[in-house]
Amino acid sequence: MSARIIDGKALAASVRASVRDEVSVLAARGIRPGLAVIIAGKDPASQVYVRNKLRACEEVGVHSELLAFPADVSDATLIGSIEGLNRDPAIHGILVQLPLPKSLDAARILATVSPAKDVDGFHLENIGALVTGQAGFVPCTPAGVMRMLAQENLPLAGRHAVVLGRSNIVGKPMALLLLQKDATVTICHSKSSDLAAITRQADVLVAAVGRAKLVTADMVKPGACVIDVGVNRLADGSLAGDVDFASVKEIAGLITPVPGGVGPMTIALLLVNTLRAARLAAGERA
Ligand code: GUN
Repeated sequence: MSARIIDGKALAASVRASVRDEVSVLAARGIRPGLAVIIAGKDPASQVYVRNKLRACEEVGVHSELLAFPADVSDATLIGSIEGLNRDPAIHGILVQLPLPKSLDAARILATVSPAKDVDGFHLENIGALVTGQAGFVPCTPAGVMRMLAQENLPLAGRHAVVLGRSNIVGKPMALLLLQKDATVTICHSKSSDLAAITRQADVLVAAVGRAKLVTADMVKPGACVIDVGVNRLADGSLAGDVDFASVKEIAGLITPVPGGVGPMTIALLLVNTLRAARLAAGERA
């Protein structure tokens, strides 16, 4: 039997529509959420992501500013610019597009973003909040995946969730969010041995390693929920996820496609986080 496909594009559109409604409610009170996006260098994938984020802001009425720097920008210039945004009352969210050029001190730059404006959830204060189960900003991609699982009413308590990938952006926060929902969580990575033996135990399998079609049908438990965070450009220019969609959809119970799965949810959750930052700044409980 073929898996049901989770339509991330449709779910993201409904999340964006509710953000748009809430933005108009805030507008009546003279508040307009604002997001600043910082990019350094000309990485083509990052440029596409940033363009999509700015377009999404525009569509829901969120003010946005792009600060684009050359690849040889200094740490001091970026830090000075972030400090200015931290003080700017029109800006509620600050996003530093990753990866930054290798010459830059990414940790120091991310630590400069005010935790209250850290809509990516990359500041140590927000990471600490996530680890300890306190309120903070949660990274957009894993937050988007959790929305998808909630939408599907997928039971997580006591289930085995396997996360492939241990990045700070996806793998680690994803594992923590699944743990918060009482899943039994395993994190696998490039040094894990006998990957298939572990992934075959997964009731929920999240692939976030950046290797095209790594997850094949023989690695998936029949009926499992398979979430594909990977976006890999193939030699012919097409996009493929970390999951071999064509074969895995015949085994899985639920599956996300690439494109049209997790990707649109990441941007929708960035808008959710920016709206929340604006509300908190206005003294609301959000
Ligand atoms: N690069 C890849 N994913 C992300 C993300 O979610 N946020 C930022 N800032 N950079 C990224």
